[in-house]
Formats: sequence, structure tokens, C-alpha cells
Amino acid sequence: MASADLTPLVTGNWKMNGLAVAEGELAKIVNGAAGLKAELMVCPPATLVASFAAAARGSAVAIGGQDCHAEPSGAHTGDIAAEMLKDAGAAAVIVGHSERRTDHHETDAQVRSKAMAARRAGLLAIVCIGEQRAEREGGQTLAVIGRQLDGSLPDGGTSANLVLAYEPVWAIGTGLTPTAADVAEAHAFIRKRLETRFGAEGGRIRILYGGSVKPTNAKELLTIANVNGALVGGASLKAADFLGIAAVYRSA
Ligand code: PGA
Repeated sequence: MASADLTPLVTGNWKMNGLAVAEGELAKIVNGAAGLKAELMVCPPATLVASFAAAARGSAVAIGGQDCHAEPSGAHTGDIAAEMLKDAGAAAVIVGHSERRTDHHETDAQVRSKAMAARRAGLLAIVCIGEQRAEREGGQTLAVIGRQLDGSLPDGGTSANLVLAYEPVWAIGTGLTPTAADVAEAHAFIRKRLETRFGAEGGRIRILYGGSVKPTNAKELLTIANVNGALVGGASLKAADFLGIAAVYRSA
């Protein structure tokens, strides 16, 4: 199956934004999801996972967490197990987001453990990788994401349990985006690594682009080869913007 045939996934990462009242925004996203040739997902803060999952049940919108602990339970104050997200109604969890890697000093090995935990719990793991600005400027991009892939990917990845998100760190929340050629190069590189690691299944694992995706640049970014959807931060908080991005996949 060619990567272009994969069902795209547009995921909103709400980060540390959203109170109970934001359920109205979710309702608009649920209403707007009809007729899209893509899967939609919203990853709200952990406090909203259960209520959002209940509100979105039976709709075309899945709910995900933004992080999980590697262990299923235990003395880890403040942490949330993958099993708990699953229990709350989540279908997926983001792991290794650059803000976790930076703010919480998460290593590739820890990200890999979290991705394995997601698999154990029956969640789709959305594994994030991406280079820093200095690494891009130093011509290190492919070396860096190659190292992150080697260190962060879980064993036994399939299209049902794993999604990759390529997010250049310098493009997150900045309004900056890489050129289409740079996105194509990174995604082709990731695709090849996935196929080397997981065989034919690696050709079916979706690779999302993330970093300053907006309605105005979505078409350009999401029609690049091997880009199978988007991980959206800021522009996912308003239903109109999020749906404006997903509209790239609206059937004619
Ligand atoms: P952004 O964030 O869309 O606000 O750049 C993307 C992300 O961090 O996943």
C-alpha cells in the first residue's frame, strides 16, 4: 500500500490549555468531522480526557492523552499510566513531545518505554521526533531524527499501534515552517527507517507533520509525499481553525 493511500490523521495537541467549558469547542469539532476523509483526534489536558471521551463517544473524533508513565501503576506522584488513559476512554497518547523532552528532560529511552507502555495498554502511541534550530542549521537534521528513531521507537510497531510525528522544534509555536522540500526529505527518511525496522508494516504507519500548521499552510504541508496528517498545537484550540486544517481532506 502506498503511503498516499493511508487514512490521514489530524490530531490536536491542546497542551496545558482547556477548562471544562472547552467542551463546547469539542462539540463543534465533532459536528464538523462528518464528510472528512481523515481521522480526527483531540488530545486535551489529562483533566479533560474522561469527559471529552464520553462526549465524543460514537463520533468520528478520538481522544488522546499528551503523555504517560512507562509503568502501569505505582508510587509515581502526579504521573498517569497508559492504562489509566485507556480506562478514561482515550484511544491514543502522545509520547516524546519536544516540550516533554525539554521541560522534563525525557530521553529517547524513556520515550521508547512510554511508547511500549502505550502498546501494552492498547493505545495508539504518537511518537514525536524533530531537530532543534541549531541542528537544522548545522546540517544535522537527518542524523538527529535518525538517532531519535533508533532510540524512541517501540518494538512491534504496526499501523494500529504506532504513529510518528515529525516536529522540527524550531517550528513549534513560532509560525515558522520548513520548506516543502525539507519536509519531504525528513518524511522520506522516516518512512525508510520505519520500513527497515518494521518491514511492510512500516509502509503503513502514518507520519504526521507538526509545527505551526494553520488553515493557510495546511494544503501545502499536508499534500507532501509521506505526510499522512498533522499534529496541531495552537491552531487546534479553536474548532474553526482545526477544522480548517482538516478540510484539506474533505471529499470533493
Ligand atoms: P504548534 O504546535 O502547532 O502550536 O506549532 C505543534 C505541537 O507542538 O505539536
